[in-house]
Amino acid sequence: MFQPGATMAFLSATLERIRPSPTVAITQLARDLKAQGRDVIGLAAGEPDFDTPAHIREAAKAAIDAGHTRYTPVDGIPELKAAVAAKFRRDNGLDYAPEEISVATGGKQVIYNALMATLEAGDEVIIPAPYWVSYPDIVRLAGATPVIVETRLEDGFRLRPEALEAAITPATKWLIFNSPSNPTGAGYSRAQIAALAEVLERHTHVWVLSDDIYEHIRYDGFEFATPAEVAPALKERTLTLNGVSKAYAMTGWRIGYCGAPKPLVDAMRKLQSQSTTNPCSIAQWAAVEALNGPQDFIATRNKAFRNRRDLVLAELGRIEGIDCPRPEGAFYVFPSIAGLIGKRSRGGTEITDDETFARALLEETGVAVVHGAAFGLSPFFRISYATSSALLAEACARIADFCAGLR
Ligand SMILES: Cc1ncc(COP(=O)(O)O)c(C=O)c1O
Repeated sequence: MFQPGATMAFLSATLERIRPSPTVAITQLARDLKAQGRDVIGLAAGEPDFDTPAHIREAAKAAIDAGHTRYTPVDGIPELKAAVAAKFRRDNGLDYAPEEISVATGGKQVIYNALMATLEAGDEVIIPAPYWVSYPDIVRLAGATPVIVETRLEDGFRLRPEALEAAITPATKWLIFNSPSNPTGAGYSRAQIAALAEVLERHTHVWVLSDDIYEHIRYDGFEFATPAEVAPALKERTLTLNGVSKAYAMTGWRIGYCGAPKPLVDAMRKLQSQSTTNPCSIAQWAAVEALNGPQDFIATRNKAFRNRRDLVLAELGRIEGIDCPRPEGAFYVFPSIAGLIGKRSRGGTEITDDETFARALLEETGVAVVHGAAFGLSPFFRISYATSSALLAEACARIADFCAGLR
């Protein structure tokens, strides 16, 4: 039997470099409090509250009955690669051949494959903050160094070209770009992408990992664009990442995909062949239906998301000490609590930073949000508004009351 000390010696040093996902940790804490009978409203999870549409669920059932239950080609069945190629052409004006497409067990595995296949100790990856929590940890797992470039609320949390230029060194291997963003919802316009591309075109050793997973969740006429489309010169060193988790409410099915240069896709396939092999065969057939089938429900769902965003923005806008920009997409807002630092809650907690704010908010009101430091930028917090308007209104009322009680 392992003694605790012996167990630690048994675990690899690689594991020391990473931490468990803070968003998963907060969601679990909220779940635990709920199990203890506390009235908890969880605004921490990053997934749509909608169900997977019926036609996609039916396609999965049909796939089981048709016997699509065996191993498939490692990085995707030809039918799914064809659907992905058609999607890139239809939505992004991008031409990717089947051998330039890779399908994996979620967008997260695509990122993991790409970074593990390309990074070594000494390599640097530029990650604008606030960032999706997994980027820096996957870079660290690969033995490389995340180079965090903080963005500013005044810039709508968008990376400025000068800041990108200043962060590039001879060791830079990738820029990770995410629009619309998790955790801010900020989307980059075509012109803003072109300005970043102008910098990247001068630094030909830097590759771009464009995480487009929130492409379809956008508001107020925001026009989505992606670097390989805006700057065709970059396509030969860009990985365009997408997946079915967010747009099609398919987080549990675990299908993500990318378009990228063939040598990279080959390397990613080699890695995946010695880890998970193919993504779930049934989920792949469901994804074929998601990409090829009707798309109209996306607009309907976006209307619901937009109403919730507007509700949250209106409520937060009334709270003194909180400042929140209006996001272009995704289902998150990322308000600043700069005006609340140094105050004390009714429960006696001094709000020294966003982590103490989030913890006191959860303990005293039962509202679970994620502190900005988890995403690499303070003092902010993230609300995921992928929940009912009634719960959002109640959560905002509790946040307002909590803030009103700060002295
Ligand atoms: C920005 C971003 N990229 C990628 C992913 C990965 O999604 P999945 O692995 O479900 O495809 C997520 C999920 O939360 C995300 O927020």
